[in-house]
Amino acid sequence: MEQTRTTPYSGTRADLHEALGRILAERWTCRQFLPDPVPRATVGRLLELAQRTPSWCNTQPWHVHITEGDATRRLREGLLEHVRDGNPAVPDFPFPARYTGVYRQRRRDCGVQLYGSLGIAKGDQEGTLRQLLRNFELFDAPHVAIVTTEADLGVYGAVDCGLYIDTFLLAAHSLGLAAAPQAALASYAPFLRDHLGIPDHRRVVAGVSFGHPDTDHPVNSFRTARENPENAVTWHTDA
Ligand SMILES: Cc1cc2nc3c(=O)[nH]c(=O)nc-3n(C[C@H](O)[C@H](O)[C@H](O)COP(=O)(O)O)c2cc1C
Repeated sequence: MEQTRTTPYSGTRADLHEALGRILAERWTCRQFLPDPVPRATVGRLLELAQRTPSWCNTQPWHVHITEGDATRRLREGLLEHVRDGNPAVPDFPFPARYTGVYRQRRRDCGVQLYGSLGIAKGDQEGTLRQLLRNFELFDAPHVAIVTTEADLGVYGAVDCGLYIDTFLLAAHSLGLAAAPQAALASYAPFLRDHLGIPDHRRVVAGVSFGHPDTDHPVNSFRTARENPENAVTWHTDA
């Protein structure tokens, strides 16, 4: 197998910790991009970093379909038409059955921030639909990466791809780019399979639109909160 280990970090351990903390704190989901394309060499570096993602048995089950130039325009237009024609959502992996309790609350908080940033009032169905459709316009990004896994690897293949997506997002931020992970794109897996020539034995996990952020756009003005980590852990100690 070709070695893709990245060059060792030359800073101190403290610098390393600081850099990771900064990347994690700063990264956000970008929902409005500038049209400027990302040079192929920069995308190559992004992929090189993302490829370091761990996976079960080092299977590295991800395969990404990346669009640039006219291919992004064709995908955006085709997908939008597919959605507007009323085709049903047919994701390869089942979407959440329901959001209850704290998950419902966090989802709502996230929606309040998103729609609030755009001045879309609660109950404004037209405004909500317009923002939903922005997903299929790839938030005007010059590129999208459609992340697929091998069907036989099942849920853990999808888990590995989820890790890959996070590394991809963090690597993009470290390169001065921005990105948007989008399960919404996986809703239309049959369209993507057909349009991009994805083989039947592959499953669409999610898409990631990426490029340069439009930092002046209000949709990029808010940052989401996180639960206190103490509330996400159960400690088991001596009696
Ligand atoms: C697997 C996954 C799928 C997501 N799908 C969408 C999506 O379809 N549309 C969207 O606008 N945001 C989507 N998001 C972005 C989340 O809403 C966002 O990560 C979350 O609110 C936390 O905000 P942050 O990324 O800005 O920190 C997705 C995120 C993940 C990890």
